Amino acid sequence: MKQKIVIAGGSGFLGQALAEYLAKECEVVVLTRHPSPSCPHGREVGWDGRTLGDWAKELENTVALINLAGVSVDCRYTAKNRRLIMDSRIDSTRVLGEAMVRCLQPPKVWLNSSTATIYKHTYSAAWDETGEIGATAEAKDAYSIEVATAWERVFNEAKTPRTRKVALRTAMVMGHGRNSVFPVMRRMIRLGLGGQMGDGRQYMSWIHEVDFCRAIEWLIAREEVSGVVNLAAPNPVTNAEMMRTFREVCGMPFGLPAAKWMLEIGAVFLRTETELIIKSRRVVPGRLLREGFQFKFSEVRMALEDLEHGGEMSAGKMPA
Ligand SMILES: NC(=O)c1ccc[n+]([C@@H]2O[C@H](COP(=O)([O-])OP(=O)(O)OC[C@H]3O[C@@H](n4cnc5c(N)ncnc54)[C@H](OP(=O)(O)O)[C@@H]3O)[C@@H](O)[C@H]2O)c1
Repeated sequence: MKQKIVIAGGSGFLGQALAEYLAKECEVVVLTRHPSPSCPHGREVGWDGRTLGDWAKELENTVALINLAGVSVDCRYTAKNRRLIMDSRIDSTRVLGEAMVRCLQPPKVWLNSSTATIYKHTYSAAWDETGEIGATAEAKDAYSIEVATAWERVFNEAKTPRTRKVALRTAMVMGHGRNSVFPVMRRMIRLGLGGQMGDGRQYMSWIHEVDFCRAIEWLIAREEVSGVVNLAAPNPVTNAEMMRTFREVCGMPFGLPAAKWMLEIGAVFLRTETELIIKSRRVVPGRLLREGFQFKFSEVRMALEDLEHGGEMSAGKMPA
């Protein structure tokens, strides 16, 4: 019999990539607010992300629970959106903890999403899991840090003596799925708008979707690993280098740069926040490397070339 894995919030970009990857060896159950009978990779079960219900039975006798639920942060941080971003993460994590307590045979491991954005804006030090946490006025990231720390606090507070817990501090995942940054950046590059953003010195931490899935599979198997783990490729690059490499991979000889003031105006029209672009995220996978995880895509050029040529995953793939 196949081992069972539950992915809460598994209908989105990362959830569908993971479901596709894990369904080769496991039975995958996705918890979603809008279950569909025709789920391509596994079975969908309804929940509301807030209250206990029949869905909780799905956690019995599973090898892993992976929680990816949360409203997208790619929006304007209005009071309403702030509440949705925070509540969707806190409520889903809290109710999963409550469901776990009621399990006769709870999951062996619970991997809960967090974010690499939790670390302090930095141009110099590369942060592994011991890196500094905190907001800076320059990065305008006070709200994101508040969300990330509250999210991890609720996860840490959940009492699950029979279940190993891992908080996933995930960097920007590069893939083809809906909500991935890759198709958005590629469109900008092809329109000639792929120059550096701001002064281009800010670091971008990233991970290829295949390595994201492989790292999750590896963490499920490694019974000695618990606590916080950074999911990021070992070589973050500056924004200037990212954009230059992207242009080269796409065969685009030029790209108009965007000054900070242009980004501020553009963000209003695109209904997003400049923090997502301006904050310098220099995050490295200290624990994954120390414990012997081998990245398939450790350099950004390798990752971008793979994705530009189609990539391995098919979940949610956008047309080239
Ligand atoms: N993508 C990245 O690069 C990245 C990087 C770092 C961290 N993360 C984190 O990883 C998680 C998954 O990311 P993603 O890119 O896969 O996001 P996504 O495509 O937006 O998917 C998020 C999932 O959350 C569920 N959801 C949304 N609002 C919810 C609510 N109010 N209550 C319960 N569930 C809700 C949605 O499921 P239904 O609508 O089907 O219920 C959806 O499947 C997120 O928490 C994100 O913050 C992502």
